[in-house]
Amino acid sequence: MVLLVMAFLKAWNAACNTTASETSIIIIPSKQTFLVNPIAFRGPCKATNITFLIQGRLVAPNSPKVWKGLDPSQWLAFRGVCGLNIAGNGKIDGKGSGWWNQSCRDHPGLALNILSCNESILRNLHFTNSPQTHILVIGSYGINIKNVRIEAPETSPNTDGIHIHASRNVMISDSIIGTGDDCVSIGDYTSKVYISSIKCGPGHGISIGSLGRGGNFVKVENIHVSKVYFKGTTNGVRIKTWQVGKGYIQGITFEDMYFNSVQNPIIIDQNYCNVRDACKEQKTGVHVTDVVYNNMSGTSITALAINLNCSQSVACTGILMKSIELRSAQTGHKVISSCRNAHGFAFGVVQPDSCLEI
Ligand SMILES: *[C@@H]1O[C@H](CO)[C@@H](O)[C@H](O)[C@H]1NC(C)=O
Ligand SMILES: *[C@@H]1O[C@H](CO)[C@@H](O)[C@H](O)[C@H]1NC(C)=O
Ligand SMILES: *[C@@H]1O[C@H](CO)[C@@H](O)[C@H](O)[C@H]1NC(C)=O
Ligand SMILES: *[C@@H]1O[C@H](CO)[C@@H](O)[C@H](O)[C@H]1NC(C)=O
Ligand SMILES: *[C@@H]1O[C@H](CO)[C@@H](O)[C@H](O)[C@H]1NC(C)=O
Ligand SMILES: *[C@@H]1O[C@H](CO)[C@@H](O)[C@H](O)[C@H]1NC(C)=O
Repeated sequence: MVLLVMAFLKAWNAACNTTASETSIIIIPSKQTFLVNPIAFRGPCKATNITFLIQGRLVAPNSPKVWKGLDPSQWLAFRGVCGLNIAGNGKIDGKGSGWWNQSCRDHPGLALNILSCNESILRNLHFTNSPQTHILVIGSYGINIKNVRIEAPETSPNTDGIHIHASRNVMISDSIIGTGDDCVSIGDYTSKVYISSIKCGPGHGISIGSLGRGGNFVKVENIHVSKVYFKGTTNGVRIKTWQVGKGYIQGITFEDMYFNSVQNPIIIDQNYCNVRDACKEQKTGVHVTDVVYNNMSGTSITALAINLNCSQSVACTGILMKSIELRSAQTGHKVISSCRNAHGFAFGVVQPDSCLEI
């Protein structure tokens, strides 16, 4: 095993600041394992197109002890770089298992951090066992994540597959994600996210939120999620907000999905609270509006296949349901839908029957 931080940074500085017009390429060779301490690849760069080709295997320091004295905020980070192309068929192993039974406040952050990067691509890589989120996209515009595989045990806490925050124009496609938390989660100040052709499970499904925790003004819009196959997840498509939040979530489409033994295939929870019954009824709420659920089928392992649990103060509006056929994973059992302050229309087949109010 080779310890590789200085060499990485040297290669980065050269690639980043080459003035040659052609692409700069950094290659991490195949059939080798590199132990990498926390490292940040920073821009701005003179090169307009940098390819980071990961063919080998990158592993994080493998126990909390080894992390002592190292920057805990991230493991691998790209900051302020445009035109990045991170590719290769290598593996990125966050060695997170030593952290999972500790309080998450003390965890080092994420496996791969894409911070303030524009017009960049991440593809073909295999991520595993991050201490927390595997891929974080934050403050970035024009990110294309394609054909990645992300794996961590179902029991590993907070190991989201991909989390997007304060970003615009993010595409995620053709990927397989199974972890102990959300396959993909969408955070605040995010718009124009297109997610398609994803296999999700195990894990907590695809989630918008949780949002509004600190009572802030939430702004999430134009999210399109399609062609997702969920297997054994706790949720399918979920929107969750805290009652103390303000602002809005609007222009959301979920379509062409199949649920295989999912606990809550379709769920909106506007009364999200991390401690059961600890959050009091508030006069505020994040307005959830213009949400389409179209062409979804499959099985629920709970009776409550559709649960639209909206705020008493700020109801959900403009919800449209069309071509939905959910049944129980157990033969002979029924599924139902439940609505609370949820307004909109149902068209065509909707099974279990829609409970939306006009
Ligand atoms: C590249 O050059 C820019 C502009 O001269 C400078 O700000 C930046 O720190 C350099 N980056 C690296 C990684 O050497
Ligand atoms: C950057 O380089 C990659 C790989 O050579 C190429 O596919 C891509 O089109 C280039 N992007 C730009 C903006 O030149
Ligand atoms: C990325 O794009 C945004 C919006 O166009 C811009 O404000 C920001 O400065 C860009 N970042 C970089 C690193 O170029
Ligand atoms: C966490 O797991 C590690 C390795 O399995 C073990 O050595 C450690 O004692 C555990 N810590 C806690 C707080 O349970
Ligand atoms: C409905 O979704 C399934 C995927 O679950 C897809 O195969 C099918 O083509 C979609 N049907 C329509 C009419 O778009
Ligand atoms: C809706 O949310 C309220 C407040 O958290 C909770 O008490 C109730 O059980 C939820 N209803 C359903 C059907 O989940």
